[in-house]
Amino acid sequence: MNVTCISSSNILHQKEGTSYRICKMISDSLRSVNADIDLSIIELKNYDLSPCIGCGKCYETKRCSIDDNFNNIYNKLVDSDIVFIVSPHYAPIPAKLCMLLEKMEQITFLHWGKDNAYKSEMFGKIAGIISHGGGAKWALKSYKLMVNDTIANALDTIQIKVVPYNEDWKTGISLPVKNIIISDNNIFPIQEYDFNYLYSEIQNYIEKVIEFYNNY
Ligand SMILES: Cc1cc2nc3c(=O)[nH]c(=O)nc-3n(C[C@H](O)[C@H](O)[C@H](O)COP(=O)(O)O)c2cc1C
Repeated sequence: MNVTCISSSNILHQKEGTSYRICKMISDSLRSVNADIDLSIIELKNYDLSPCIGCGKCYETKRCSIDDNFNNIYNKLVDSDIVFIVSPHYAPIPAKLCMLLEKMEQITFLHWGKDNAYKSEMFGKIAGIISHGGGAKWALKSYKLMVNDTIANALDTIQIKVVPYNEDWKTGISLPVKNIIISDNNIFPIQEYDFNYLYSEIQNYIEKVIEFYNNY
């Protein structure tokens, strides 16, 4: 099973951001249930991406004529059975994730607009969405609205099915910060996490994703 995990963080001042650490937890959790998984983590911060300019050239090629970094990521997603998107709340989602979703949407939408029976190259794939931000549990419902639901809406156009967590959380899960420390020596707030809690939430969601995949 090929799994690709996208870390949507674009922050350079920390070596391993929260999104990347969540991707590693997804990898550990998946390997604990199935050792036969080929998992790659794509860190968007390492890619220069550009926004869709609506030139329409992708209608013929199904690839972007000006952005090979996008094409490389897209090829990797096309080869995946399951995609995880791990996204922090920025404003509301990181710009590079937005550029990735814009281009995948455009490639699919131009064909679907002419033929509603069109199946995209991503048709039949499933996705898990995990959001987080600078807030504790109180903030999670707003991350769902602004991050999970926004990503799920784009994935729907691209014809990827998002795995629900439960009746209230139909577009994935969201993970909280435990404490925030403001210090005089650092311009950025320091976010502390309960990593055992995060891992158990991730494991619960991974079980649903695998069950969904097996029955899909
Ligand atoms: C440009 C930018 C905007 C942000 N806006 C918000 C926000 O509106 N609400 C929030 O809770 N956190 C916000 N944050 C904090 C990040 O969501 C938080 O630090 C997160 O853990 C970063 O994840 P990462 O390490 O994977 O990049 C923002 C961070 C950045 C860089």
